Amino acid sequence: MNRRNFISTSLAAGAAATLATKSAESSQSGSVRIVGVSCSPRKGKTTAAAVKTALEAAKTVASGIETKMIDLGGMKISGFSGLAEPQKDDFDSVLPMLKDPVPDGLIIGSPSYFRSMSALCKAFLERLVVLRQPKLMLADVPAGVLAVGAFRNGGQELVIEQIQSVLLCHEMMIVGGKPGAHQGATLWNLAKDDITRDEFGMDTARKLGIRVAEAAIRLAGKKI
Ligand SMILES: Cc1cc2nc3c(=O)[nH]c(=O)nc-3n(C[C@H](O)[C@H](O)[C@H](O)COP(=O)(O)O)c2cc1C
Repeated sequence: MNRRNFISTSLAAGAAATLATKSAESSQSGSVRIVGVSCSPRKGKTTAAAVKTALEAAKTVASGIETKMIDLGGMKISGFSGLAEPQKDDFDSVLPMLKDPVPDGLIIGSPSYFRSMSALCKAFLERLVVLRQPKLMLADVPAGVLAVGAFRNGGQELVIEQIQSVLLCHEMMIVGGKPGAHQGATLWNLAKDDITRDEFGMDTARKLGIRVAEAAIRLAGKKI
C-alpha cells in the first residue's frame, strides 16, 4: 500500500469508527431526535411556523422520531465576543438542547434580511463555536436549512447557502429536501404572516423535514 492509499484508508476507517460510535450512542437512546431552530427575532411568526412544519413532517417518517422546537424569537443572543470570560445571555438556555445530547438531525430556519440571514441567526451560529472545540460535536449530524422572505425571490436560497456554509465548518452532513426543495425549503410570506398560504413553500418545508429525518435515521443506524 502506498502512502496516499494508507492515509485515505486510515481516514476512512476513522470516519467509520466515528459513525459507529454515534450509531451506538443513538441506538441506546431508542429514538431519533430532530431539533429545529427558528432564528427570527419575531417569536412564533413565519420562520417558526415553517420550522414547525418541517418538524411535523419529520415525525411522519417513523414512529420513533422525536422533535424539539427552539424558537429564538425574543431572545437576546450576542455574537461571539472574542473575550476569554464566558458570555452570559439567552444562549445559555439554548445550548443544552443542542449538546446534552447532540441531536440526530438539525433544521435551521432564518428570515431573509436584505438577502442575508438575520443578525440573530448569525449570532446564534457564531456561539455554536463551543460545539467545535475541543471536538466537533456536530460532525456527521444531518442538517437542513430553510429561509422565509417577503418576496418570492427575496434571497431565500442565498440565506440557505450562508447557513449551510457555517454548518459545513462543523462537518455536518448537509441535506436538502425532496425534489422541489433540493437546496432546502424556500418560503414566501405572501399573506401578512400567514405562511400556510404559500402552498409551494409549505411543501418545501415538509420535504426538507422528511429528508432530514430519513438521513438522521440512516446515520444514527437505528431501528425505530
Ligand atoms: C430588516 C429586514 C430585511 C428584510 N429583507 C428582506 C429581503 O431581503 N428579502 C425578502 O424576501 N424579505 C425581506 N424581509 C422580510 C422578511 O424576510 C419576512 O417578513 C419574513 O417572513 C420574516 O420572518 P418572520 O415572520 O419569521 O419574522 C426583511 C425584513 C426585515 C425586517
